[in-house]
Amino acid sequence: MSKEYKIGVIRGDGIGPEIVKEAVKVLDAVSAKYDFSLKYTDIDMGGCSIDKYGVPLTEEAVETAKAMDAVLMGSIGGDAKTSPWYKLEPQKRPEAGILGIRKALNLFANLRPAMLYEELKNACPLKEETADKGFDLIIVRELTGGLYFGERSTKAIDGIETAVDTLSYNENEIRRAAIKAFDIAMKRRKAVTLVDKANVLDSSRLWRKVTEEVSKDYPEVAFDVMLVDNCAMQLVKDPAQFDVVLTENMFGDILSDEAAIITGSIGMLPSASLNDTKFGLYEPSGGSAPDIAGKNIANPIATILSAGMMLRYSLDQDKAADAIEDAVKKVLKEGCRTGDIMSDGCKKVNTDEMGDLIVKCLA
Ligand code: IPM
Ligand code: MG
Repeated sequence: MSKEYKIGVIRGDGIGPEIVKEAVKVLDAVSAKYDFSLKYTDIDMGGCSIDKYGVPLTEEAVETAKAMDAVLMGSIGGDAKTSPWYKLEPQKRPEAGILGIRKALNLFANLRPAMLYEELKNACPLKEETADKGFDLIIVRELTGGLYFGERSTKAIDGIETAVDTLSYNENEIRRAAIKAFDIAMKRRKAVTLVDKANVLDSSRLWRKVTEEVSKDYPEVAFDVMLVDNCAMQLVKDPAQFDVVLTENMFGDILSDEAAIITGSIGMLPSASLNDTKFGLYEPSGGSAPDIAGKNIANPIATILSAGMMLRYSLDQDKAADAIEDAVKKVLKEGCRTGDIMSDGCKKVNTDEMGDLIVKCLA
């Protein structure tokens, strides 16, 4: 009998449902080809969960996710200026759902691979000679510590309104993220760059100390450090220099959006959030794009590639994952583009057409 996996599906808000639909379409086709099956269970999270239950993530949703082999997610959140979700207190807004599920499932390592497809060089906003060199890097972002999970408060101190966010890391949190980065580097070009702000922050100095220790266990991997402000600059100047970029939560959040846009569009960047089991949560790096939601024009490729990462990292279906990645390349080679990556001479397609084309190209 063919293997069956349990997949949680968080469609979420904005473009989430439309891009997830295409990823599921591709998963159904590829699983039939490679003789395994996927049983989907819908999980509410984000704004749609607020509308139903008053909170962005229920305990039941967490329990359902825990019982799955992996979870595929679209995106959550709405327009902060107009959506009623943003009138709620911060812990009840859509983003608290994603932070909550990361913490509840201990998803401490967030992998965001950014590569420039040959066919998308025209969409790359970098200088032509930089784009010509291409790049293929992966950001390993620590995901359950640092500023996003530290204590915070806003209160009057001596009559002056004061807000405090806490950036704290312990050596164990750093070590497990560093080990992930080095393990990944061993399967790639064997180079890790730790990105930090060690010229100012104590937490960064601990990151350096612990990561240097971890690096000793990986003599084949070249290890380097870089300050985060410099890294932001180097990513647009010479992204080809990076293989694995390891960094803490907030720096990784910022740098991964930058890494996304240099690939041509944020709609191209997949991501995997992993704990120390096989389980993972897979989502595009981009947001819910409420301005284009429901128009069938969003780029589903990041979500489809995230589904590919799910097959690779959580289900050990590497051949099926390769097939998805190859099909994406093929469709791009054939000149089909959603609006965000459109260039002269290409054929503009909708969200669902892109999904159909990728299904057609699956080998
Ligand atoms: C991301 C997003 C989230 C984050 C938001 C929605 C809380 O920007 O996944 O990069 O900051 O982690
Ligand atoms: Mg982000």
